[in-house]
Order: sequence, then C-alpha cells, then structure tokens
Amino acid sequence: MPVLPIARMGADVLKRRAEEVTDFKDPSLPALVDNMLETMTEARGVGLAAPQVSVPKRIVMFFVPAERNKGVEVPLTVMINPVITPVTQEQDEGWEACLSVPGLTGEVPRYTAIKYRYQDLSGATVEREAEDFHARVVQHECDHLDGILYPMRMSDMKSLAFVDVLETEARARGETLDLDEEGRNPE
Ligand code: NI
Repeated sequence: MPVLPIARMGADVLKRRAEEVTDFKDPSLPALVDNMLETMTEARGVGLAAPQVSVPKRIVMFFVPAERNKGVEVPLTVMINPVITPVTQEQDEGWEACLSVPGLTGEVPRYTAIKYRYQDLSGATVEREAEDFHARVVQHECDHLDGILYPMRMSDMKSLAFVDVLETEARARGETLDLDEEGRNPE
C-alpha cells in the first residue's frame, strides 16, 4: 500500500467539485481506500478526502480520538457520496488544520450539530448524527468534495497562523499551546 502524495492548496483538483461514485464493484475502489488510509496515517491526520490525493471522487475518511469527543471515540469511517444536513443554525468557532494547507491553523465556524448520510464500500446507505468535533471533522472533509478549503470558511482571517509561530509565542509567554485542541491533527 503506497503512501500517496498530498495535493496542496492551489492544486486544481482541490478547487473542483468531485464526482459521485456510482460503481461500487470497481476494483480500484478498495485499493484507493487502503492507500488513503496509509497516507492519512503516515501524515498523522484525522481525516482525508480523495481530492487531497488527486482523485476527484466523493470519498472521504476520518476518525475521532476519544479525547477530542468527550471520551467517545468515533472509529475509522469511510464515507462515499456523503451528504450533510445541519440540525441547528448554531455555529462554533474552532481551530482547524489541513494536510493540504501544511503548517497553518485557523479558527473556522462550523455547525455544532449535523446529520449525515453516506454509502459504505458495499454501497449500503448509513445515517448518523454528530456534534462538536465529530461534526466539525465531517464538515471539513465534505467541504473538500466541493472544492472548499477551511480558510475559505473563516470569518476572521486574523486567526490564520503558522502553528510553529503560535508555539514559539506561547513558549515566550511561559505557556504551552494545547495543540490537541488547536489544530494539531490536520484533516
Ligand atoms: Ni483538509
């Protein structure tokens, strides 16, 4: 399973709407998912979308570590053709980072509660609900399928920052930047 190169901001494949998957018997599908998992793991990401490995298809994967979701782990989930429906108008600002925008982090408003629906690798439809960080990751990943990167969602570009600058400045203040909560795990 090779690690794939990750497309970075500016690449055309990250700006386009990705295509629906229609052929669930396509033998390249499980191979792509395996390679995406290898790539995400190597990059220490919590999420990855197919366009980030230059494949313009509506496929994303993510997981949510328990410590970022009130103690409840969301195991690795592979979503094909996902659709999100917000169940509240309430949005929260939270730090995000992205493997396609390396080194940077910024505060992004996201719906705090959503429902989402997707197909699994067999083509079966799955429906779930999500809140808080779980909801944030799903919104971030699905944006990749519509050519949207998190800086395009920011309400105040002033928080866009290099992670290492935030770390250096926090250290100078005698503080530790809690990067678990502030965009350490890119999506
Ligand atoms: Ni991303």
